[in-house]
Amino acid sequence: MLKVGIIGCGTIAQVRHIPELANNQNCQLTAYYSATPQKAEKMAERYGGKAYTDLEEFLSSGLDAVCVCVPNALHAEISVKALNHGLHVLCEKPMATTLEDCESMVEAAKRNGKKLMIGQNQRFAQAHVEARKRIEAGEIGDILSFDTVYGHAGPEAWSGQKNPWFFDKKRSVFGAMADLGVHKTDLMHYLLGEPIVKVNANLCTRDKKYPDGSLISVDDNAFCLYQTASGVVGSMHVSWTQYGEEINSTVIQGSEGVIRCYTDPKYTLIVEKKHGPVEKLELDTVGVNEEQTSGKFFNSGVIDAFVDCILQDKKAPIDGEEALKTMRVIFAAQKSAQTGEAVWIEENKK
Ligand SMILES: NC(=O)c1ccc[n+]([C@@H]2O[C@H](COP(=O)([O-])OP(=O)(O)OC[C@H]3O[C@@H](n4cnc5c(N)ncnc54)[C@H](O)[C@@H]3O)[C@@H](O)[C@H]2O)c1
Repeated sequence: MLKVGIIGCGTIAQVRHIPELANNQNCQLTAYYSATPQKAEKMAERYGGKAYTDLEEFLSSGLDAVCVCVPNALHAEISVKALNHGLHVLCEKPMATTLEDCESMVEAAKRNGKKLMIGQNQRFAQAHVEARKRIEAGEIGDILSFDTVYGHAGPEAWSGQKNPWFFDKKRSVFGAMADLGVHKTDLMHYLLGEPIVKVNANLCTRDKKYPDGSLISVDDNAFCLYQTASGVVGSMHVSWTQYGEEINSTVIQGSEGVIRCYTDPKYTLIVEKKHGPVEKLELDTVGVNEEQTSGKFFNSGVIDAFVDCILQDKKAPIDGEEALKTMRVIFAAQKSAQTGEAVWIEENKK
């Protein structure tokens, strides 16, 4: 039985990590640590285990693994500390806020022989898993291009606060590009089987404001033109200003057909062959925020995959190296937005 602890007992811990760990038969929630101790106590009361107010004591309490669910700027420091304590780590996305920090996490996992996984959960959505299989099997021929979109009304609804830490550059560092863009960039790496190597980006702040009426200092919209090593081209638009129904869709065009993921509320995967039938599959529902916060149990799959990779001693499905490829794209997009030029990502070509 794997003993798992939670660091940071806020929204994502409460709606995903803790209930999904509690639902997993192979692990036990034994410890909680949060900057807001009342939240840790509340979780310990509800799910069992002990709340700690001292991080060292928490890390030395006989745990096998931890979930790091704190604001972005703290991911690297806390993850490296836990890895150095000999614990496996599932860290929330975005991995970290500088390239050096991301690399230090990969290095700490290697040095300590522990699993490091990043919560880029889009890969586990059923339509995406099925789309990957169809692409791998060559059902739509050679991949030509893609369009992927992720938009919701912003982190205010998610966090229940009008001015959440996501708007505070010191704690979030990034805006929509890293909040939602990491998900969709990682998803494209997974679906295409190769990473993005070139990016042209426009990151902008169109509408989100601080209480004093000034625009927030991180992006609320990001538009990217991507290219992979084999020449596949595509677009990604992520947004915190989608003030209608949430959108989280991907269309992939191939020489022999098209695959549509989550473009239709009923048929979450549609495979259209160039000279053949249109196949419409009712798989899962799209993993939008509303679904996670509705109070109903929703299994993202990311927690089970983390537990499984530790127990089976398998490579983590989104390990540090894989997440690093995504983060390089995020940093390249920031650079491209600043300079107005396309940025090549040499490391992702290797
Ligand atoms: N995978 C996803 O789809 C997804 C969705 C939402 C959020 N997230 C990520 O999860 C992380 C947390 O987001 P959230 O929405 O839960 O935020 P939140 O503010 O609701 O929760 C963060 C918690 O961390 C605690 N905390 C702050 N500093 C700490 C410290 N030094 N030590 C211990 N605890 C500390 C806070 O008290 C708070 O309870 C972020 O990195 C965010 O990007 C991921």
